[in-house]
Amino acid sequence: METVGWQRARPTTGQTPMCEAMNTSRRKSPRMQRSPQRIHVDPNSASSCLLLESVHYLPHRVEYVHTHRPQWQRTTSLIMHHKPPLPGFAVRDFSLAEDWTFLNHGSYGAIPRSVQQEQERWRQELERQPVDFLARRWPGLVAEARGQVAPHLGTTSDCMAFVPNATAGIQAIIRSFSWQRGDSILTTNHRYDAVHRILQFAMRRAGGQVIEVDPSANPTPDSLRTALLAACRPHTRMVVLDEITSPTARRLPIKPLIEDLRDRGIMVVVDGAHAPGQIDVALDTMGVDFWVGNLHKWVCAPRGAAVLYAAPQHHDVIRAPITSHGHGLGFHAEFDWTGTFDPSPWLSAPRALAQHEAWGGAELRTAHRQLAGHFRDRLYDALDLPNPAVPGTPHTLAMIAVPLGVPTTHVPAAQHWLAAHKVEAPIIPWQGQTWIRASAFSAYNMPDDIEALIALLPKLRNVLRDGT
Ligand SMILES: Cc1ncc(COP(=O)(O)O)c(C=O)c1O
Repeated sequence: METVGWQRARPTTGQTPMCEAMNTSRRKSPRMQRSPQRIHVDPNSASSCLLLESVHYLPHRVEYVHTHRPQWQRTTSLIMHHKPPLPGFAVRDFSLAEDWTFLNHGSYGAIPRSVQQEQERWRQELERQPVDFLARRWPGLVAEARGQVAPHLGTTSDCMAFVPNATAGIQAIIRSFSWQRGDSILTTNHRYDAVHRILQFAMRRAGGQVIEVDPSANPTPDSLRTALLAACRPHTRMVVLDEITSPTARRLPIKPLIEDLRDRGIMVVVDGAHAPGQIDVALDTMGVDFWVGNLHKWVCAPRGAAVLYAAPQHHDVIRAPITSHGHGLGFHAEFDWTGTFDPSPWLSAPRALAQHEAWGGAELRTAHRQLAGHFRDRLYDALDLPNPAVPGTPHTLAMIAVPLGVPTTHVPAAQHWLAAHKVEAPIIPWQGQTWIRASAFSAYNMPDDIEALIALLPKLRNVLRDGT
């Protein structure tokens, strides 16, 4: 039996062939499907070495791949031969509860055991001699970790600093400039709420303005350009743009705009919170002034690991979000120490990146996108909405968000209701509409995970309408 990458095919009975295959296998819950099953082993083929456990649905048949613990190393390397890897291939490597359908990698990520162990190792190492670790070894350790992370983001360690999260990175950027009455910062209505509050706080204090433009729910290069350029004022000093939007899960077409904005003397800040590990990141060629990205989301680093990129001309200007001993002593000194803290997330980030690469790197990211494309098609089918995707065009992200066509009044109650049914997916109010977002992390998510959400959609929409 040959194991090949799974593909989505057009449904013939209202369900994709994957789901049809799932039904024929007469399994009840998606999680139960992962109980070990041994099938055909052909010693001459790569896939045959796998004892089969995770279930993969191919267009016309069901195929099983078993990631059997004692053979884990061997299994990993064999799975890496598949381009892209099959969904759910490393489900056992996560600590996720089996009785939940977890469709929200996008919020806080999920950490594989290998990275949990690495973090624990660093914590134990620190506890052996805390003062030696933090007072003497720390500068060397953080520099080494920075040097290992930077190339994955297409830059050098000179231009990046660790920060605890994207919020802290944006906060650092905004507080590094003195804002004047009449200044404005542009952003879009797809922005992340916490980031918007940082901008508002700074502008209100200075007597400036945050101008939020609407490039439409499906921004195109033209709609984004037109909306932003129309909002530019003589005192527009900065534009803050999401690389991947949180409420709507869109990839903003920012690239063609960056040079234009900077030519107008406007600083470009990119909120790439969702970018590392989800899309390719090439900071040195991006041409932005600043960029922030979380490593705890799609890179699966421990929470508390994020990156701030600053273009060289800003290294003397940028200040950490918290002033401490390194203040005024240079870019790295400024950020490397902002008070006593747990450094294990930063030090474990290289291990998380190594795991990401071992799982296929670019191929893993492709697998996420394929799975998200399947989630997208099933959601649009289930909601009976016109699917905006061009047939045959691969999905560009590992997340999908769709409007549910119901008001936003009862979002908190609906989120609780969904959680009570053990499905984790964020319900997000955006522009007066209620959206639902699903993440596809192909190492542990399976094609049928979306069915658990779809089965609840009719009732969920009732709860959103009525609150009960
Ligand atoms: C687009 C965007 N920006 C910023 C953030 C803030 O990230 P953090 O909470 O890690 O600071 C998020 C969080 O999900 C986000 O989606």
